Amino acid sequence: MGLRAAEKARRYYDETHALYLRHVGHTCQSGLIHGLHRDPYRSTILYALQECELPRGARILDAGAGACGPSVHICEAMEEASVVAVTISPVQANSGRELVASRGLTDRIDVMVGDYHSLPHDDDAFDAAWFLESTGYSDDLPALFGEMFRVIRPGGKVYIKDVFRRDGIMMASQRRELEEFDRVYAHCTRLMGECAHAIAGAGFERVRTKRLSRASTRLFEAAMWESDGGRKILSAFGRRHYRPHVRLPILFGQILGAKPVA
Ligand SMILES: C[S@@+](CC[C@H](N)C(=O)[O-])C[C@H]1O[C@@H](n2cnc3c(N)ncnc32)[C@H](O)[C@@H]1O
Repeated sequence: MGLRAAEKARRYYDETHALYLRHVGHTCQSGLIHGLHRDPYRSTILYALQECELPRGARILDAGAGACGPSVHICEAMEEASVVAVTISPVQANSGRELVASRGLTDRIDVMVGDYHSLPHDDDAFDAAWFLESTGYSDDLPALFGEMFRVIRPGGKVYIKDVFRRDGIMMASQRRELEEFDRVYAHCTRLMGECAHAIAGAGFERVRTKRLSRASTRLFEAAMWESDGGRKILSAFGRRHYRPHVRLPILFGQILGAKPVA
């Protein structure tokens, strides 16, 4: 039997964390929404906050939190919000704790190593759960969103911004490119509809999907390259991740759902 997805993700992020930190930063998302702040990482969080409409002082689960870049941006944008940041990677968690301490946010961001399929929190503990490019590491979406339904309070929200597979039949070459993409990132790219179906199946209502055609991969692609005396060469991040994809069948999208009130 192969490794479980959570173990694959842990290995991948423990191994590559230093590369992400050096070439990408404390946020490891590939699709960013520019234009709401001069910092595109912060801009992406402002966009998600607009979409989610959270109450003042919201308690948010950042599920698959990376090195806490997004958790910090959430707290800096939303006075009184607090975050539980869960990652499967102990290396990311250590780095996230350092970032949180350096921003003076230890009383508002609790960083923990854990598996988002099974959390130690009480029922109805959160106003929202956020997944920023992190659902594609789950091998059991019904279990994942069942757990989210448990820990989110009635009226609370689940928000996802992620990479999904394009609808439609894939050509053999596209299938190969997608398999290679999933292998390189220890990912499991699915249709947005499949994820939305699992969310609705867990009991969430008003499940809405939206294609994020304005998400830009420019910064993520730039991290693959560096200059060597004026010559463009692959960076260490690029040597691990770059593939000359021609027609990779992916898109960026978001899904929002709400837990019914009683
Ligand atoms: C692409 S990174 C995104 C990180 C973060 N959301 C951000 O925007 O920077 C995916 C994250 O999902 C986390 N992850 C993957 N599988 C997980 C699991 N089973 N439980 C908790 N976190 C998981 C990884 O550790 C990593 O932090």
